[in-house]
Amino acid sequence: MLMSELITKKRDGGKLTAGEIKFIVDGYTAGDIPDYQVSAFLMAVFFRGLDREETLHLTMAMRDSGDTLDLSGIPGVKADKHSTGGVGDTTSLVLVPMLASLGVKMAKMSGRGLGHTGGTLDKLESFPGFQTGIPHERFMENVAKVGMVIAGQTADLDPADKKLYALRDVTGTVNSIPLIVSSIMSKKLAAGADVIVLDVKCGKGSFMKTPADAHELAAEMVEIGKLSGKRTIAVVTDMDQPLGNAVGNALEVKEAIATLKGESAGDLLELCLTLGGCVLKAAGMAETVDAARSMLLGTVENGAALAKLKEFVAAQGGDPQSVEDVSLLPSAPVVRQLRAPEGGYIRAVDALGIGMVCLKLGGGRTTKESDVDLSVGAVLQKRVGDKVTPGDVLAVIHASDETHADAAEAELLRCFTIGREAPAPVAFIKEIVE
Ligand code: URA
Ligand code: CA
Repeated sequence: MLMSELITKKRDGGKLTAGEIKFIVDGYTAGDIPDYQVSAFLMAVFFRGLDREETLHLTMAMRDSGDTLDLSGIPGVKADKHSTGGVGDTTSLVLVPMLASLGVKMAKMSGRGLGHTGGTLDKLESFPGFQTGIPHERFMENVAKVGMVIAGQTADLDPADKKLYALRDVTGTVNSIPLIVSSIMSKKLAAGADVIVLDVKCGKGSFMKTPADAHELAAEMVEIGKLSGKRTIAVVTDMDQPLGNAVGNALEVKEAIATLKGESAGDLLELCLTLGGCVLKAAGMAETVDAARSMLLGTVENGAALAKLKEFVAAQGGDPQSVEDVSLLPSAPVVRQLRAPEGGYIRAVDALGIGMVCLKLGGGRTTKESDVDLSVGAVLQKRVGDKVTPGDVLAVIHASDETHADAAEAELLRCFTIGREAPAPVAFIKEIVE
């Protein structure tokens, strides 16, 4: 087979066979096919697309490019959750302990923040001593014993995605639905869970800007999951404004703990009840979504989910006391209130803009090697639809020094759109795709 022939075949709109796709994935992973040919191929895919069969073949070839985890020896339903990436998204830290405390085995591999989006691994490192890198053997042991693991993806899991994602990032080919589907689903399939729940973000703070695109991505991932024999559900959720109030690593950990203590409600809790409800139903543990919701709320009321978070933190080397006493988590030296210059209604809170503010405060990565300041970020006090009078606190900025706080203040103010009239309400949960 000649790579140049496969590039021209896709360029001209042809359909690739399973063998041809495997040739490309294996050849690239092994280093036999150079970046420039794969770049051209990715661009051809970007413009011509892949049909469902091709997407499935690509997903399978990527899944099989390295090790896969076999969780079948662990009793019970094994579930995994994935978000397409947003701002202020602390869902995993709330949802995973809720489900684990109900007996679902949660085996989750997470990533780090890049650009304006946060990553669960960075957030977890707010717990003093916490280890995100654990060997496969310990991973399996902790899933069985504790009922939950959140760890970094090891180098030998889906190596094809690591190379392809890095290449897409610099060749303008990230935003292609079949390439996103194969990237996400190959990792989820390699990680071995039986039930996969996907949170597909839609709006200014995410990859998919319109409900139609988010729907297409959700539907394709669900189909590919099902064709691979996994119970897969996707929920399309709003990411025009950040999720919850806190944006920033340790600030989001504190928000997650407050939610598990029953001290915080709102869209973060709502999302956890919806995603969790989908998992419990798919796992055969609840008859209806309503029944599932009360089971999940019960884990907050009886303290079981918080206790599970503590057990998990300890099992991965972190200080469990820091779950009880959040003053042990990183905190920023400069805390400043941002006040509303005018009155009216909050018409928009720009998730992407707020993500950028946190990045510039030092809370994110500009390159893969950047150091992250876990303590910085912002906590919103007003959300879309809220009424404000001049001088009301819109947000609280947490910064490393006054200079950073000054810059953040000006930029953060631009993220709030205040108008005379209340905005039309938008649905937070847009769609459930099964
Ligand atoms: N997240 C992924 O893991 N891959 C993509 O392609 C996009 C988002
Ligand atoms: Ca948040």
